[in-house]
Amino acid sequence: MSAIPSYLLPDTSSVGPDGHLIVGGCDTVALAAEFGTPLFVYDEEHLRARCREAVAAFGSYATYATKAFLCTAMARLAYEEGMALDVATGGELHICLSAGVPADRLVFHGNNKSSAELRQALTAGVGRIMVDSFEEFDRIENLVAEGLNPPSVLLRVTPGVEAHTHEYIATGQDDSKFGFTVSTGLAHQAVERAEKSDSMNLIGIHAHIGSQVFRAESFAQAVKVLGEFTSPLGLRELVVGGGLGVAYVEGEHAPTITEWANVLHNAVDEAGITASIGIEPGRSITGAAAVTVYTVGTIKHLEGIRTYVAVDGGMSDNPRPVLYGSGYEAFLPARASAERDLTARIVGKHCESGDLLVREASLPSDVAVGDLLATPVTGAYGHSMGSNYNKVLRPPVVFCRDGDARLVVRRETYDDLLGTDLG
Ligand code: LLP
Repeated sequence: MSAIPSYLLPDTSSVGPDGHLIVGGCDTVALAAEFGTPLFVYDEEHLRARCREAVAAFGSYATYATKAFLCTAMARLAYEEGMALDVATGGELHICLSAGVPADRLVFHGNNKSSAELRQALTAGVGRIMVDSFEEFDRIENLVAEGLNPPSVLLRVTPGVEAHTHEYIATGQDDSKFGFTVSTGLAHQAVERAEKSDSMNLIGIHAHIGSQVFRAESFAQAVKVLGEFTSPLGLRELVVGGGLGVAYVEGEHAPTITEWANVLHNAVDEAGITASIGIEPGRSITGAAAVTVYTVGTIKHLEGIRTYVAVDGGMSDNPRPVLYGSGYEAFLPARASAERDLTARIVGKHCESGDLLVREASLPSDVAVGDLLATPVTGAYGHSMGSNYNKVLRPPVVFCRDGDARLVVRRETYDDLLGTDLG
């Protein structure tokens, strides 16, 4: 196998004269020495470029889905670049407000928002609430009866479109816990209910068909169904969600945000939709912006079976391989252009056999204990879905730009593990 292909690496990546991977002008080997491993290294320019691409295509209706990766630095970055931010829980809302993002640039999602979360959102004055259930109408009405201001709302609908992706992250099909189903008539009932209510201002419709979707055609199909539903309502906003896939492994190719936008805009024109169109990308903004850098701790060559390479992280910093069987690549950032002739399974340090990061990785055959090992395209749903399983400390996050490395999330300490423990 040849060297790691550059299209899986962050935009500003290059290989220095000593063979080291450089991201955002920073030597990843030096970063590992300074901040330790595991370490999430983000290319700040890559993040900003993706935000700008989304804003160029959808203006202020381009909304970053914070679940993909969130810390206050990321929230500020997306806001500075002109994006609104989608939050799906009180916790995500709290981080965005703490980052100083104005509440009117926040959109509140969730299929089971509690009254406490809705109170938090209405009190802050979030820009839009995406209503997902009939219970939520009751909760909002009760809060407005208490004296909170009526929010602007969009209704989340399920358009009956099967996206080609993993079943856990497909959301557009009728059999879904999300939204009001169009085909069963629930979506029409929800519109009637919202229109009758004095406690909210219905401004639009929202749908999200799934995540890690490669086929632009799936989105065009959703727009068609949504157009038939939305146009007669005369509402001013239609948000078509996120979901654009990214390439994780060699041979995969995903549409760019601009290509996705063109498909959406064409489908909107064809369907004669006049509402303003919004998108909510998460993965396509942050996924390829980061690499995770680990240190190899043990190597086991099992004759006739396989080689296991164990690193100092695992399912606690990237649960995606375990959850969805997701594929990743690996390489050695100190020898970033090296051929990768050895096939090995890259595993973590957790106490279960399922703890794998790359099922069939290609690595340079001279990989040795103590080497740094990196997995690219870990900027989305890695840090955000991380855990403290086995009381492993969550890794730090560094943003690199023009040769400056800015630590935006520090490594956890053992005392952090006791922070909520009352004894
Ligand atoms: N909008 C809504 C309403 C969503 O539910 C999601 C993702 C997005 C936008 C952003 O989707 P994206 O552009 O990132 O595909 N943990 C899974 C992905 C779950 C996605 C959940 N919703 C994974 O690691 O693949």
